Amino acid sequence: AEPADFRNEPHSDFSLASVRASMAEAIQSVRGRLGQSVSVPFAANRPPSGLPLVVRNPSRPDEILGTVSTVLPADLPAVMEGAKQRIGPWKDRPAAERVEIMRRAAALMKQRRYELAAWEVLEEGKPWREADADVAEAIDFLLFYARRMEQLGAPRRLGGEPGEANHLSYTARGIAAVIAPWNFPLAIPTGMVSAALVTGNVVLFKPSERAPIVGCLLGQILAEAGLPAGVLQVLPGGPDLGRALVQHPDSGIIAFTGSKNAGLWILGQAAQVGKGQRHVKRVIAEMGGKNAIIVDETADLDEAVSGVVASFTGYQGQKCSACSRVIVHEAVHDLFVQRLTDAVQAVTIGPPEDPGSRMGPMIDERALKTVREYVEIGRREGRVIVDRIMSGPGYFQGPVIVAEIRPGHRLAQEEIFGPVLAVMRASDFVQALDLANETDYALTGGVYSRSPKNLQLARERFDVGNLYINRPITGALVGRQPFGGHRLSGVGAKAGGDDYLLQFMTARVVSENT
Ligand code: SER
Repeated sequence: AEPADFRNEPHSDFSLASVRASMAEAIQSVRGRLGQSVSVPFAANRPPSGLPLVVRNPSRPDEILGTVSTVLPADLPAVMEGAKQRIGPWKDRPAAERVEIMRRAAALMKQRRYELAAWEVLEEGKPWREADADVAEAIDFLLFYARRMEQLGAPRRLGGEPGEANHLSYTARGIAAVIAPWNFPLAIPTGMVSAALVTGNVVLFKPSERAPIVGCLLGQILAEAGLPAGVLQVLPGGPDLGRALVQHPDSGIIAFTGSKNAGLWILGQAAQVGKGQRHVKRVIAEMGGKNAIIVDETADLDEAVSGVVASFTGYQGQKCSACSRVIVHEAVHDLFVQRLTDAVQAVTIGPPEDPGSRMGPMIDERALKTVREYVEIGRREGRVIVDRIMSGPGYFQGPVIVAEIRPGHRLAQEEIFGPVLAVMRASDFVQALDLANETDYALTGGVYSRSPKNLQLARERFDVGNLYINRPITGALVGRQPFGGHRLSGVGAKAGGDDYLLQFMTARVVSENT
Protein backbone atom coordinates (compact mmCIF):
# COMPACT_ATOMS: atom_id res chain seq x y z
CA ALA A 1 0.00 0.00 0.00
CA GLU A 2 1.11 3.55 -0.62
CA PRO A 3 2.29 5.20 2.59
CA ALA A 4 -0.20 7.67 3.99
CA ASP A 5 0.54 11.24 3.01
CA PHE A 6 2.36 13.31 5.59
CA ARG A 7 0.96 16.65 6.71
CA ASN A 8 2.33 18.75 9.56
CA GLU A 9 0.06 18.94 12.58
CA PRO A 10 -1.38 22.48 12.60
CA HIS A 11 -0.49 24.71 15.53
CA SER A 12 -3.33 25.75 17.82
CA ASP A 13 -4.91 29.09 17.02
CA PHE A 14 -4.88 30.92 20.34
CA SER A 15 -6.63 33.90 18.79
CA LEU A 16 -9.83 31.84 19.16
CA ALA A 17 -11.49 32.18 22.55
CA SER A 18 -12.47 28.50 22.61
CA VAL A 19 -8.87 27.40 22.03
CA ARG A 20 -7.62 29.75 24.73
CA ALA A 21 -10.23 28.34 27.09
CA SER A 22 -9.12 24.76 26.40
CA MET A 23 -5.51 25.61 27.15
CA ALA A 24 -6.37 27.55 30.32
CA GLU A 25 -8.50 24.63 31.46
CA ALA A 26 -5.66 22.18 30.83
CA ILE A 27 -3.28 24.30 32.90
CA GLN A 28 -5.86 24.40 35.70
CA SER A 29 -6.34 20.68 35.52
CA VAL A 30 -2.60 19.94 35.62
CA ARG A 31 -2.30 22.40 38.52
CA GLY A 32 -4.86 20.33 40.41
CA ARG A 33 -2.62 17.29 40.15
CA LEU A 34 0.69 18.76 41.27
CA GLY A 35 2.98 17.26 43.85
CA GLN A 36 2.45 13.65 42.90
CA SER A 37 5.03 11.04 42.15
CA VAL A 38 5.25 10.56 38.38
CA SER A 39 6.41 7.15 37.36
CA VAL A 40 7.02 4.73 34.56
CA PRO A 41 7.41 0.99 35.06
CA PHE A 42 11.01 0.01 35.75
CA ALA A 43 12.20 -3.19 34.09
CA ALA A 44 14.09 -4.67 36.98
CA ASN A 45 10.86 -5.39 38.93
CA ARG A 46 11.91 -3.17 41.79
CA PRO A 47 12.07 0.57 42.14
CA PRO A 48 15.17 2.25 40.74
CA SER A 49 17.72 3.07 43.41
CA GLY A 50 18.27 6.85 42.95
CA LEU A 51 16.78 9.55 45.14
CA PRO A 52 13.52 11.05 43.92
CA LEU A 53 14.03 14.16 41.86
CA VAL A 54 11.90 17.07 43.03
CA VAL A 55 10.66 19.00 39.99
CA ARG A 56 9.94 22.71 40.39
CA ASN A 57 8.27 25.39 38.33
CA PRO A 58 10.96 27.78 37.04
CA SER A 59 8.48 30.69 37.23
CA ARG A 60 7.96 30.12 40.96
CA PRO A 61 10.60 27.79 42.32
CA ASP A 62 8.64 27.24 45.55
CA GLU A 63 6.01 25.34 43.61
CA ILE A 64 6.75 21.62 43.46
CA LEU A 65 5.32 20.03 40.34
CA GLY A 66 6.02 16.44 41.23
CA THR A 67 8.69 13.92 42.05
CA VAL A 68 10.30 11.43 39.72
CA SER A 69 12.26 8.34 40.75
CA THR A 70 15.77 8.33 39.36
CA VAL A 71 18.00 5.59 38.09
CA LEU A 72 21.64 5.18 39.04
CA PRO A 73 24.49 3.67 37.03
CA ALA A 74 24.32 0.75 39.50
CA ASP A 75 20.86 -0.09 38.12
CA LEU A 76 22.13 -0.34 34.58
CA PRO A 77 23.25 -4.00 34.47
CA ALA A 78 19.71 -5.16 35.33
CA VAL A 79 18.21 -2.73 32.81
CA MET A 80 20.55 -3.95 30.07
CA GLU A 81 19.78 -7.60 30.79
CA GLY A 82 16.07 -6.86 30.41
CA ALA A 83 16.67 -4.86 27.25
CA LYS A 84 18.74 -7.59 25.61
CA GLN A 85 15.89 -10.08 26.04
CA ARG A 86 13.54 -7.74 24.22
CA ILE A 87 15.73 -7.23 21.13
CA GLY A 88 14.76 -10.39 19.21
CA PRO A 89 10.99 -10.31 19.64
CA TRP A 90 10.75 -6.58 18.91
CA LYS A 91 12.89 -6.53 15.80
CA ASP A 92 11.17 -9.63 14.41
CA ARG A 93 7.76 -7.99 14.59
CA PRO A 94 6.51 -6.91 11.19
CA ALA A 95 7.45 -3.28 10.58
CA ALA A 96 3.76 -2.55 9.97
CA GLU A 97 2.98 -3.36 13.62
CA ARG A 98 5.65 -1.02 14.91
CA VAL A 99 4.38 1.65 12.54
CA GLU A 100 0.86 1.18 13.87
CA ILE A 101 2.00 1.73 17.46
CA MET A 102 3.64 5.05 16.47
CA ARG A 103 0.41 6.14 14.78
CA ARG A 104 -1.60 5.28 17.89
CA ALA A 105 0.86 7.26 20.02
CA ALA A 106 0.37 10.24 17.70
CA ALA A 107 -3.40 9.93 18.06
CA LEU A 108 -3.07 9.86 21.86
CA MET A 109 -0.89 12.97 21.78
CA LYS A 110 -3.52 14.71 19.66
CA GLN A 111 -6.16 13.84 22.24
CA ARG A 112 -3.98 15.03 25.12
CA ARG A 113 -2.54 17.95 23.26
CA TYR A 114 -3.40 20.76 25.68
CA GLU A 115 -2.55 18.70 28.72
CA LEU A 116 0.92 17.92 27.35
CA ALA A 117 1.46 21.58 26.45
CA ALA A 118 0.30 22.58 29.95
CA TRP A 119 3.00 20.39 31.48
CA GLU A 120 5.58 22.14 29.31
CA VAL A 121 4.31 25.53 30.44
CA LEU A 122 4.78 24.50 34.06
CA GLU A 123 7.86 22.28 33.91
CA GLU A 124 9.93 24.11 31.28
CA GLY A 125 8.51 27.62 31.44
CA LYS A 126 7.40 27.54 27.79
CA PRO A 127 5.02 30.21 26.60
CA TRP A 128 1.78 28.75 25.22
CA ARG A 129 2.66 28.97 21.55
CA GLU A 130 6.05 27.39 22.04
CA ALA A 131 4.62 24.58 24.18
CA ASP A 132 1.87 23.93 21.65
CA ALA A 133 4.36 23.88 18.76
CA ASP A 134 6.49 21.35 20.63
CA VAL A 135 3.56 18.95 21.03
CA ALA A 136 2.65 19.40 17.36
CA GLU A 137 6.23 18.59 16.37
CA ALA A 138 6.22 15.43 18.50
CA ILE A 139 3.08 14.28 16.64
CA ASP A 140 4.82 15.10 13.36
CA PHE A 141 7.87 13.01 14.22
CA LEU A 142 5.72 9.98 15.08
CA LEU A 143 3.73 10.17 11.84
CA PHE A 144 6.66 11.12 9.62
CA TYR A 145 8.89 8.29 10.81
CA ALA A 146 5.98 5.84 10.70
CA ARG A 147 5.41 6.74 7.07
CA ARG A 148 9.11 6.53 6.26
CA MET A 149 9.36 3.09 7.88
CA GLU A 150 6.57 1.88 5.63
CA GLN A 151 8.80 2.78 2.71
CA LEU A 152 11.92 1.17 4.19
CA GLY A 153 10.31 -1.92 5.70
CA ALA A 154 10.16 -4.09 2.58
CA PRO A 155 13.29 -5.44 0.85
CA ARG A 156 14.12 -3.53 -2.32
CA ARG A 157 15.33 -5.20 -5.49
CA LEU A 158 18.44 -3.59 -7.03
CA GLY A 159 19.60 -3.80 -10.63
CA GLY A 160 17.93 -5.62 -13.50
CA GLU A 161 20.60 -7.98 -14.82
CA PRO A 162 19.29 -11.43 -15.72
CA GLY A 163 20.61 -14.37 -13.71
CA GLU A 164 20.88 -12.61 -10.38
CA ALA A 165 18.57 -11.11 -7.80
CA ASN A 166 19.90 -8.47 -5.39
CA HIS A 167 17.81 -7.43 -2.43
CA LEU A 168 18.59 -4.61 -0.01
CA SER A 169 16.93 -4.67 3.38
CA TYR A 170 17.39 -2.99 6.72
CA THR A 171 17.46 -4.43 10.21
CA ALA A 172 17.59 -2.93 13.67
CA ARG A 173 20.93 -2.45 15.37
CA GLY A 174 19.91 -3.62 18.84
CA ILE A 175 19.89 -1.28 21.81
CA ALA A 176 19.61 2.47 21.36
CA ALA A 177 20.53 4.85 24.17
CA VAL A 178 18.63 8.11 23.75
CA ILE A 179 19.96 11.07 25.72
CA ALA A 180 17.59 13.98 25.36
CA PRO A 181 17.58 17.69 26.13
CA TRP A 182 14.98 19.67 28.08
CA ASN A 183 14.32 22.56 25.70
CA PHE A 184 12.00 20.70 23.34
CA PRO A 185 10.99 18.26 26.05
CA LEU A 186 8.46 16.27 24.05
CA ALA A 187 9.39 16.80 20.38
CA ILE A 188 13.11 16.02 20.46
CA PRO A 189 12.81 12.92 22.67
CA THR A 190 9.81 11.71 20.65
CA GLY A 191 11.83 12.13 17.46
CA MET A 192 14.83 10.18 18.69
CA VAL A 193 12.84 7.54 20.59
CA SER A 194 10.30 6.89 17.82
CA ALA A 195 12.99 6.67 15.15
CA ALA A 196 14.81 4.05 17.21
CA LEU A 197 11.65 2.12 18.03
CA VAL A 198 9.98 2.09 14.64
CA THR A 199 13.17 0.74 13.08
CA GLY A 200 13.06 -2.14 15.59
CA ASN A 201 15.52 -1.16 18.30
CA VAL A 202 15.01 -1.51 22.03
CA VAL A 203 15.34 1.93 23.61
CA LEU A 204 16.85 3.17 26.85
CA PHE A 205 15.72 6.76 27.08
CA LYS A 206 17.21 9.22 29.56
CA PRO A 207 15.14 12.40 29.68
CA SER A 208 16.93 15.49 30.90
CA GLU A 209 16.93 16.10 34.65
CA ARG A 210 15.35 19.43 33.76
CA ALA A 211 12.39 17.78 31.96
CA PRO A 212 11.74 14.43 33.63
CA ILE A 213 7.95 14.69 33.92
CA VAL A 214 7.35 15.30 30.23
CA GLY A 215 9.86 12.49 29.53
CA CYS A 216 7.80 10.11 31.67
CA LEU A 217 4.61 11.19 29.89
CA LEU A 218 6.17 10.14 26.59
CA GLY A 219 6.88 6.70 28.07
CA GLN A 220 3.30 6.44 29.33
CA ILE A 221 1.84 7.40 25.97
CA LEU A 222 3.91 4.86 24.03
CA ALA A 223 2.93 2.15 26.52
CA GLU A 224 -0.73 3.08 26.11
CA ALA A 225 -0.29 2.95 22.35
CA GLY A 226 0.60 -0.72 22.67
CA LEU A 227 4.38 -0.78 22.93
CA PRO A 228 5.29 -4.08 24.61
CA ALA A 229 6.65 -3.72 28.16
CA GLY A 230 10.40 -3.28 28.37
CA VAL A 231 10.94 -2.32 24.70
CA LEU A 232 11.24 1.26 25.90
CA GLN A 233 12.74 1.93 29.30
CA VAL A 234 12.51 5.53 30.54
CA LEU A 235 15.48 6.20 32.80
CA PRO A 236 15.31 9.55 34.57
CA GLY A 237 18.73 10.30 35.99
CA GLY A 238 21.73 12.53 36.06
CA PRO A 239 24.82 12.97 33.90
CA ASP A 240 26.48 9.96 35.59
CA LEU A 241 23.71 7.74 34.22
CA GLY A 242 24.10 9.28 30.77
CA ARG A 243 27.82 8.56 30.87
CA ALA A 244 27.23 4.96 31.95
CA LEU A 245 24.75 4.45 29.10
CA VAL A 246 27.25 5.77 26.58
CA GLN A 247 30.05 3.59 27.91
CA HIS A 248 28.06 0.39 28.24
CA PRO A 249 29.30 -2.21 25.72
CA ASP A 250 25.73 -3.21 24.83
CA SER A 251 24.69 0.26 23.65
CA GLY A 252 24.63 -0.03 19.88
CA ILE A 253 23.46 3.45 18.96
CA ILE A 254 23.66 6.63 20.95
CA ALA A 255 21.23 9.33 19.88
CA PHE A 256 22.06 12.55 21.66
CA THR A 257 20.91 16.15 21.50
CA GLY A 258 22.63 18.64 23.77
CA SER A 259 25.78 20.64 24.25
CA LYS A 260 28.89 20.55 22.09
CA ASN A 261 31.10 19.44 24.95
CA ALA A 262 28.85 16.56 25.93
CA GLY A 263 28.49 15.52 22.27
CA LEU A 264 32.23 15.51 21.67
CA TRP A 265 32.78 13.49 24.83
CA ILE A 266 30.21 10.94 23.66
CA LEU A 267 31.90 10.64 20.27
CA GLY A 268 35.25 9.98 21.95
CA GLN A 269 33.85 7.39 24.30
CA ALA A 270 31.83 5.65 21.64
CA ALA A 271 35.01 4.96 19.68
CA GLN A 272 36.26 2.67 22.47
CA VAL A 273 35.46 -1.02 22.06
CA GLY A 274 34.64 -2.50 25.46
CA LYS A 275 35.20 -6.02 26.70
CA GLY A 276 33.02 -8.47 24.82
CA GLN A 277 31.77 -5.75 22.47
CA ARG A 278 31.44 -6.82 18.85
CA HIS A 279 30.21 -3.66 17.21
CA VAL A 280 31.22 -0.07 16.69
CA LYS A 281 28.77 2.26 18.36
CA ARG A 282 26.90 4.59 16.10
CA VAL A 283 26.56 8.15 17.37
CA ILE A 284 24.00 10.69 16.26
CA ALA A 285 24.85 13.95 18.01
CA GLU A 286 22.96 17.17 17.54
CA MET A 287 24.98 19.84 19.30
CA GLY A 288 25.04 23.61 19.53
CA GLY A 289 24.85 26.70 17.41
CA LYS A 290 26.02 30.29 17.29
CA ASN A 291 23.52 31.28 14.69
CA ALA A 292 23.66 34.53 12.76
CA ILE A 293 21.14 36.59 10.84
CA ILE A 294 22.51 38.98 8.22
CA VAL A 295 20.59 42.19 7.59
CA ASP A 296 21.76 43.97 4.46
CA GLU A 297 21.12 47.51 3.23
CA THR A 298 18.21 46.37 1.01
CA ALA A 299 16.32 44.54 3.77
CA ASP A 300 12.78 45.34 4.82
CA LEU A 301 13.75 46.54 8.29
CA ASP A 302 10.31 45.98 9.83
CA GLU A 303 10.47 42.33 8.81
CA ALA A 304 14.10 42.05 9.89
CA VAL A 305 13.43 43.53 13.33
CA SER A 306 10.51 41.24 14.05
CA GLY A 307 12.33 38.18 12.67
CA VAL A 308 15.44 38.84 14.76
CA VAL A 309 13.39 39.48 17.92
CA ALA A 310 11.42 36.25 17.43
CA SER A 311 14.60 34.29 16.71
CA PHE A 312 16.61 35.45 19.71
CA THR A 313 13.90 35.79 22.37
CA GLY A 314 11.68 32.80 21.49
CA TYR A 315 11.70 30.42 24.47
CA GLN A 316 14.14 32.84 26.07
CA GLY A 317 16.80 31.99 23.49
CA GLN A 318 17.02 28.45 24.84
CA LYS A 319 17.08 26.77 21.43
CA CYS A 320 20.07 25.44 19.53
CA SER A 321 18.47 27.12 16.51
CA ALA A 322 18.15 30.54 18.19
CA CYS A 323 19.73 33.65 16.72
CA SER A 324 22.61 34.91 18.84
CA ARG A 325 24.39 37.19 16.36
CA VAL A 326 22.98 39.77 14.01
CA ILE A 327 25.35 41.07 11.34
CA VAL A 328 24.18 44.38 9.96
CA HIS A 329 25.34 46.35 6.92
CA GLU A 330 26.83 49.63 8.10
CA ALA A 331 24.46 51.70 5.94
CA VAL A 332 21.46 50.53 8.02
CA HIS A 333 23.26 49.57 11.24
CA ASP A 334 22.26 52.47 13.47
CA LEU A 335 18.68 52.63 12.28
CA PHE A 336 18.25 48.87 12.62
CA VAL A 337 19.75 48.79 16.11
CA GLN A 338 17.50 51.65 17.21
CA ARG A 339 14.38 49.88 15.95
CA LEU A 340 15.48 46.58 17.46
CA THR A 341 16.05 48.26 20.82
CA ASP A 342 12.54 49.73 20.74
CA ALA A 343 11.03 46.41 19.70
CA VAL A 344 12.57 44.37 22.52
CA GLN A 345 11.35 46.88 25.11
CA ALA A 346 7.83 45.89 24.09
CA VAL A 347 8.27 42.13 24.59
CA THR A 348 6.11 41.02 27.53
CA ILE A 349 7.92 38.93 30.12
CA GLY A 350 6.12 36.96 32.81
CA PRO A 351 4.92 33.56 33.99
CA PRO A 352 4.04 31.54 30.89
CA GLU A 353 0.77 30.37 32.47
CA ASP A 354 -0.39 33.82 31.39
CA PRO A 355 -1.08 33.75 27.62
CA GLY A 356 0.10 37.35 27.37
CA SER A 357 3.70 36.45 28.27
CA ARG A 358 5.91 36.27 25.23
CA MET A 359 8.95 35.38 27.32
CA GLY A 360 8.92 33.17 30.40
CA PRO A 361 11.71 32.25 32.82
CA MET A 362 15.04 30.64 32.13
CA ILE A 363 14.95 26.92 32.87
CA ASP A 364 16.78 27.25 36.20
CA GLU A 365 19.12 29.29 38.33
CA ARG A 366 22.22 27.95 36.60
CA ALA A 367 20.91 29.06 33.19
CA LEU A 368 20.12 32.52 34.53
CA LYS A 369 23.57 32.77 36.09
CA THR A 370 25.18 31.91 32.75
CA VAL A 371 23.30 34.74 31.08
CA ARG A 372 24.36 37.18 33.80
CA GLU A 373 27.99 36.13 33.33
CA TYR A 374 27.79 36.74 29.59
CA VAL A 375 26.25 40.18 30.18
CA GLU A 376 29.38 41.03 32.17
CA ILE A 377 31.61 39.64 29.43
CA GLY A 378 29.57 41.69 26.95
CA ARG A 379 30.22 44.84 28.96
CA ARG A 380 33.96 44.28 28.62
CA GLU A 381 33.88 43.28 24.95
CA GLY A 382 31.28 45.62 23.50
CA ARG A 383 28.49 47.95 24.52
CA VAL A 384 25.44 46.54 26.36
CA ILE A 385 22.59 48.61 24.97
CA VAL A 386 19.69 46.58 26.37
CA ASP A 387 19.59 44.40 29.49
CA ARG A 388 16.05 43.84 30.73
CA ILE A 389 17.06 42.48 34.09
CA MET A 390 14.09 41.16 36.10
CA SER A 391 13.48 40.47 39.74
CA GLY A 392 12.36 37.08 41.03
CA PRO A 393 10.86 34.85 42.21
CA GLY A 394 11.42 32.84 39.10
CA TYR A 395 14.46 32.82 36.87
CA PHE A 396 13.34 35.65 34.61
CA GLN A 397 15.66 37.48 32.26
CA GLY A 398 14.55 39.77 29.45
CA PRO A 399 16.35 40.44 26.18
CA VAL A 400 19.99 41.55 26.17
CA ILE A 401 21.60 43.32 23.19
CA VAL A 402 25.33 43.88 23.00
CA ALA A 403 26.61 46.11 20.20
CA GLU A 404 30.09 46.50 18.68
CA ILE A 405 30.97 42.82 18.92
CA ARG A 406 33.84 41.61 16.75
CA PRO A 407 34.72 38.09 15.55
CA GLY A 408 37.37 37.36 18.19
CA HIS A 409 35.03 38.19 21.06
CA ARG A 410 33.56 35.46 23.22
CA LEU A 411 30.11 36.88 22.50
CA ALA A 412 30.71 36.17 18.83
CA GLN A 413 31.84 32.59 19.39
CA GLU A 414 30.29 30.94 22.45
CA GLU A 415 26.83 29.46 22.68
CA ILE A 416 25.03 31.15 25.59
CA PHE A 417 21.59 29.51 25.42
CA GLY A 418 19.80 32.62 26.56
CA PRO A 419 18.24 35.80 25.12
CA VAL A 420 21.57 37.50 24.43
CA LEU A 421 22.13 39.03 21.00
CA ALA A 422 25.54 40.18 19.75
CA VAL A 423 25.39 42.90 17.08
CA MET A 424 28.20 42.98 14.52
CA ARG A 425 28.85 45.43 11.69
CA ALA A 426 29.76 44.61 8.09
CA SER A 427 30.82 46.94 5.29
CA ASP A 428 29.53 44.67 2.50
CA PHE A 429 27.65 41.42 1.99
CA VAL A 430 30.71 39.25 1.39
CA GLN A 431 32.22 40.43 4.66
CA ALA A 432 28.90 39.75 6.38
CA LEU A 433 28.93 36.18 5.09
CA ASP A 434 32.54 35.70 6.20
CA LEU A 435 31.63 36.92 9.68
CA ALA A 436 28.60 34.65 9.77
CA ASN A 437 30.71 31.62 8.83
CA GLU A 438 33.50 32.43 11.28
CA THR A 439 32.45 30.14 14.15
CA ASP A 440 32.91 26.50 15.11
CA TYR A 441 29.24 25.88 14.47
CA ALA A 442 27.09 25.48 11.37
CA LEU A 443 23.49 25.00 12.42
CA THR A 444 20.99 27.69 11.40
CA GLY A 445 21.39 31.06 9.74
CA GLY A 446 19.25 33.74 8.21
CA VAL A 447 19.34 36.60 5.73
CA TYR A 448 17.07 39.61 5.39
CA SER A 449 17.65 41.11 1.96
CA ARG A 450 15.84 42.12 -1.23
CA SER A 451 18.96 41.86 -3.38
CA PRO A 452 18.79 38.81 -5.70
CA LYS A 453 22.58 38.85 -5.97
CA ASN A 454 23.10 38.80 -2.22
CA LEU A 455 20.48 36.11 -1.71
CA GLN A 456 22.18 33.96 -4.33
CA LEU A 457 25.54 34.43 -2.60
CA ALA A 458 23.95 33.42 0.69
CA ARG A 459 22.42 30.27 -0.83
CA GLU A 460 25.86 29.31 -2.11
CA ARG A 461 28.15 30.36 0.71
CA PHE A 462 26.28 30.67 4.01
CA ASP A 463 27.64 27.50 5.59
CA VAL A 464 24.81 26.21 7.80
CA GLY A 465 22.58 23.16 7.91
CA ASN A 466 19.38 25.23 7.78
CA LEU A 467 19.35 28.60 6.04
CA TYR A 468 16.27 30.79 6.28
CA ILE A 469 15.64 33.70 3.93
CA ASN A 470 13.50 36.67 4.99
CA ARG A 471 11.97 34.79 7.93
CA PRO A 472 12.85 33.78 11.49
CA ILE A 473 15.43 31.02 11.90
CA THR A 474 13.79 28.71 14.45
CA GLY A 475 10.89 26.30 14.32
CA ALA A 476 11.96 23.89 11.58
CA LEU A 477 9.03 21.76 10.47
CA VAL A 478 9.32 17.98 10.24
CA GLY A 479 9.42 16.80 6.64
CA ARG A 480 9.50 20.27 5.12
CA GLN A 481 12.63 21.58 6.85
CA PRO A 482 14.72 18.58 7.94
CA PHE A 483 16.85 19.92 10.76
CA GLY A 484 20.50 19.64 11.75
CA GLY A 485 23.94 21.13 11.34
CA HIS A 486 27.52 20.23 10.60
CA ARG A 487 31.02 21.31 11.72
CA LEU A 488 30.83 21.31 15.55
CA SER A 489 27.03 21.57 15.45
CA GLY A 490 26.69 17.85 15.06
CA VAL A 491 27.03 14.59 13.23
CA GLY A 492 24.26 12.56 11.72
CA ALA A 493 21.43 12.91 9.28
CA LYS A 494 18.85 15.62 9.61
CA ALA A 495 16.01 15.04 12.07
CA GLY A 496 12.64 14.98 10.37
CA GLY A 497 14.23 14.11 7.02
CA ASP A 498 14.21 11.04 4.79
CA ASP A 499 17.68 9.80 5.83
CA TYR A 500 17.20 9.92 9.57
CA LEU A 501 15.87 6.39 10.12
CA LEU A 502 18.68 4.75 8.18
CA GLN A 503 21.09 5.58 10.99
CA PHE A 504 19.21 3.29 13.35
CA MET A 505 19.56 0.24 11.14
CA THR A 506 22.16 -1.82 9.35
CA ALA A 507 21.74 -2.43 5.65
CA ARG A 508 22.11 -5.96 4.24
CA VAL A 509 22.31 -7.02 0.64
CA VAL A 510 21.48 -10.56 -0.45
CA SER A 511 22.65 -11.46 -3.96
CA GLU A 512 21.31 -14.68 -5.36
CA ASN A 513 22.28 -16.60 -8.45
CA THR A 514 18.98 -17.33 -10.17
N1 SER B 1 14.11 22.04 15.63
C1 SER B 1 14.16 23.18 16.48
C2 SER B 1 14.06 24.45 15.72
O1 SER B 1 14.13 24.45 14.52
C3 SER B 1 15.43 23.21 17.28
O2 SER B 1 15.76 21.98 17.83
O3 SER B 1 13.90 25.47 16.32
